[in-house]
Amino acid sequence: MLNKINQTAAYLKTMVSYRPETGIILGTGLGHLADEITEKVEIPYEQIPHFPLSTVEGHSGKLIFGKLGGKEVLAMQGRFHYYEGYDMKQVTFPVRVFKAMGVKTLFVSNAAGGMNPDFKVGDIMIITDHINLFPEHPLRGKNHEELGTRFPDMSEAYSPRLIAKANEIAERCGIKVQHGVYVGTSGPTFETPAEYRYFRRIGGDAVGMSTVPEVIVARHGEMEVFAISVITDLGVEGIVEKCSHEDVQKAANAAQPLMTRIMQELVTEC
Ligand code: HPA
Repeated sequence: MLNKINQTAAYLKTMVSYRPETGIILGTGLGHLADEITEKVEIPYEQIPHFPLSTVEGHSGKLIFGKLGGKEVLAMQGRFHYYEGYDMKQVTFPVRVFKAMGVKTLFVSNAAGGMNPDFKVGDIMIITDHINLFPEHPLRGKNHEELGTRFPDMSEAYSPRLIAKANEIAERCGIKVQHGVYVGTSGPTFETPAEYRYFRRIGGDAVGMSTVPEVIVARHGEMEVFAISVITDLGVEGIVEKCSHEDVQKAANAAQPLMTRIMQELVTEC
């Protein structure tokens, strides 16, 4: 794995002169943040050694190097989901490469179903913590000390500093934000009413099928992490409605401008 990571990073370093310290994973329907990146160099995943290929509808797969708010950034447009059949080492490989490229801060976005009864479709939720319910752990197996410690601390997985900054930005821009615990599950099914109820009872505010593996690996590599969800459907007791991939995309697109604004300002300011 170490060789692969280093080979991929070495390849990317020959392709671009950018050396960004800021990484961004653009989740479902939030790809428009990419439109705000200037002086772009785009590299499709299929050209990158050892990169898995993205398959899911609505995700094109490429790395984007460029500038956002004057800062050099490295963004993933299209991520690898566990439900697509990748193993956890593949799902999190790009985060390892980010680290090897010099990325110190990781920004992540995703779509999630809301279980908190105060939430509405279209709300933006700043993730304050997570519950990992994926059936495979991304750090399972031999630990490479070069990549991080065997038993990483997860007491502050989501940077309190960045959360405070995002709160300031949201307030300044008049954007209402929610805060909560993200439950990460494998999918690809949406939840049954009983599952939503269960996730709520164990302390979750929203549930989704991504982010947790990438955040674990980012923290293993001692990156500072900020993550945000757009609430695309509700799994609130008594009002679990039918949900489709299209519903998720539609709600994510509607919230996109606000989410983009927060992320853009946060990347610029931190
Ligand atoms: N459950 C799981 N993943 C999701 C959901 C959901 O309700 N909405 C968007 N991603």
